Amino acid sequence: MYNTTINRIWQKMLSWFIILRNLHIISAEILGIKETLPPYLDPNLKVEDLLTGVCFASAGSGYDHLTVEIASVLSVEDQLNMFKGYIGKLKAAVGEARTALILAKSIFIISMGSNDIAGTYFMTSFRREYNIQEYTSMLVNISSNFLQELYKFGARKIGVVSLSPIGCVPLQRTIGGGKERDCVESINQAATVYNSKLSSSIMALNKKLSEARLVYLENYSEFNKLIQHHKQFGFEVEDSACCGPGPVCNSLSFKICEDATKYVFWDSVHPTERTYNILVSDIVKKNIHKFV
Ligand SMILES: *[C@@H]1O[C@H](CO)[C@@H](O)[C@H](O)[C@H]1NC(C)=O
Ligand SMILES: *[C@@H]1O[C@H](CO)[C@@H](O)[C@H](O)[C@H]1NC(C)=O
Repeated sequence: MYNTTINRIWQKMLSWFIILRNLHIISAEILGIKETLPPYLDPNLKVEDLLTGVCFASAGSGYDHLTVEIASVLSVEDQLNMFKGYIGKLKAAVGEARTALILAKSIFIISMGSNDIAGTYFMTSFRREYNIQEYTSMLVNISSNFLQELYKFGARKIGVVSLSPIGCVPLQRTIGGGKERDCVESINQAATVYNSKLSSSIMALNKKLSEARLVYLENYSEFNKLIQHHKQFGFEVEDSACCGPGPVCNSLSFKICEDATKYVFWDSVHPTERTYNILVSDIVKKNIHKFV
């Protein structure tokens, strides 16, 4: 019984994790109710959708406003403003008290930062006046303020996903990995510097915000292990994408592999569904109890 429930929770977490980036809000009540979270900006959104969780994600976003400008996406502030709008609608639908309860019981997942580091810092020269220590501190400061804002609005259970070995994605291997298509160690190193600051910042915030249950969701080591030992996981190709060669799989892509389950990466930045299944199961298994 316990196992079935946990499996169902995993299934649901899977869709949240796969579909969502940036700021996602989900209601713990919905576990087992809906498969994916609708975007908050969906014009057909119904009250039930508000009650059971929506998604404020903007693919390609980041903490750094330059990342947001480069990718023309919604910023942290934009997403917070949508969240305020969401709260207003929720209050109108179910009243103040129930809204506060829903917010306090919901799990929020934030996944952001890889485009700041892999994109803005390493692929453009706009932020080179900072060294990586300074730049990662700046990002973590923004993240910390963001978390405190969410807390002020009533969020309590918030999971923040760490960066993964972003120097190992096919795109970075092509640019900086040489003939062997190695991982780019400087980028992986930057991701680990960022992760350790993020983890400390979350610990500090848990002390500062008495009712908070902030959880650092580690997403580096399992993915690293999967890349380094991909054969043991049943993958054949870890250094190039199933669909390529562009950064995303689209109509201009001239190659699509026959069997995506043999590839770690779907396109030159994003993993395949099979990879996500492995990673998300691992994250959920290790962390779900921390939100309770
Ligand atoms: C974990 O890392 C992978 C690989 O970079 C990434 O695609 C995925 O979005 C990350 N998971 C979450 C929940 O952010
Ligand atoms: C981050 O915040 C801390 C304390 O709030 C401050 O000491 C530090 O200078 C800030 N770092 C950056 C890069 O803004």
